[in-house]
Amino acid sequence: MKPARLCEITCGQTDARLMAPGDRARGFVGKRGRGWLLEVHHPDPARVEPPCPHYGHCGGCSWQHLSYPAQLAYKAETVHRLLAAESALPPVASPSPWLYRTKVELSFGPCGELGFMRQGRWNQVCPVDGCLIGPPCNQAALQATREWQKRHALPGWDARAQTGLLRWLVLRHSSTTGQWLAVLVAQGEVPAAELAGRLTERGATGVLLARQSSTAGAVKPDSVELLSGQDELIERLGELSFELSWRSFYQANPPAYLRLLQTAREWAGPVERLLDLYCGIGTIGLFLEPNQLTGVESVPEAIENARANALRNQRSGSFEVAAAEEWTDLDCDLLVLDPPRSGCHPKLIKRLAAEGPQTLLYVSCNPARLAEEMRVLGQRYRLERLQCFDFFPQTPHIEALCLLRLKLAG
Ligand SMILES: C[S@@+](CC[C@H](N)C(=O)[O-])C[C@H]1O[C@@H](n2cnc3c(N)ncnc32)[C@H](O)[C@@H]1O
Repeated sequence: MKPARLCEITCGQTDARLMAPGDRARGFVGKRGRGWLLEVHHPDPARVEPPCPHYGHCGGCSWQHLSYPAQLAYKAETVHRLLAAESALPPVASPSPWLYRTKVELSFGPCGELGFMRQGRWNQVCPVDGCLIGPPCNQAALQATREWQKRHALPGWDARAQTGLLRWLVLRHSSTTGQWLAVLVAQGEVPAAELAGRLTERGATGVLLARQSSTAGAVKPDSVELLSGQDELIERLGELSFELSWRSFYQANPPAYLRLLQTAREWAGPVERLLDLYCGIGTIGLFLEPNQLTGVESVPEAIENARANALRNQRSGSFEVAAAEEWTDLDCDLLVLDPPRSGCHPKLIKRLAAEGPQTLLYVSCNPARLAEEMRVLGQRYRLERLQCFDFFPQTPHIEALCLLRLKLAG
């Protein structure tokens, strides 16, 4: 095997997520150009002291060592390079670079840990008392759950042995109403009613127990029981309000999302027929207020929410449970695409490149994937407008809003 070489390394090259783009550093480079950081000999001037005590151990927030303006500049630069955008609008900052994250999934570990997955490990949990990007109520929920677990000596999940009772604590918060839900995911019977009482005392709007038999490393419950309160939250975006179940997708940073929606509305102008693929609980379609709205989404709970949200906001629309790539009728004036991080199904991209409508509004949380898709979509569309919105401060991630228009014939 080829030995690792000691040489100059750059941020993008390494597994050392804790490097800054402007650092000059030395490290080892091994197979497939993968690198390990040894020392930063000329630090990026945009470096700051990371405020979180779990920084470097916890798998989240790996950009805390960069000033917020530098994070924004690096992210925007990356997106514009990936998408070869000619007009580079400055990125829109998150209204708050901390305390913004509305949903967290905390894991239980085999030695009584409750926290986030440890940086670079699939089977180790980094215990935390709180999280600087989540709301303060998470701290109270963490403390109550930890006390309850200890009192009953309940074993957390051992990912290697695939044994244990407690798997995750999912916390979901509404940024506008302050309501919050706690969902305990367990692999067997646990005294969950007592936990529900403790969390309700601390202000939980609803507490649910999800029972899971699958040993998969993701939340896939067989059944869900409401233990106290209600199983939905209310969120507001501008003049609209939305109900959302704990299973439905909702953007992690609603105040930043509102800025994106306002820009989308400005770019789209009045719309006659809108098709919203990957519609979630219906936010984008309902916000753009077309005369005729169709939403398509694969999670049934989200579609139930979308239908209720249309009624709640006195809007009309037809929302269907289906895979976006199986939806046959693409006839519309504006097609909205907002797929998960993995991007659109290649079948859908191929169809759009052959027979897509006049205008696409693409909302992407993975601009690298979008850049790959643009190689196919580019046969039919040109990128007319691009604007980045920072939904994920303290991390390298960014959201991009793109307006694509049909290329002129000839
Ligand atoms: C990034 S979210 C966007 C949701 C919504 N547009 C919003 O802004 O809140 C992606 C959504 O696509 C849904 N989804 C994932 N794969 C899908 C597929 N193949 N077909 C339809 N929906 C899918 C997810 O459940 C999720 O609600």
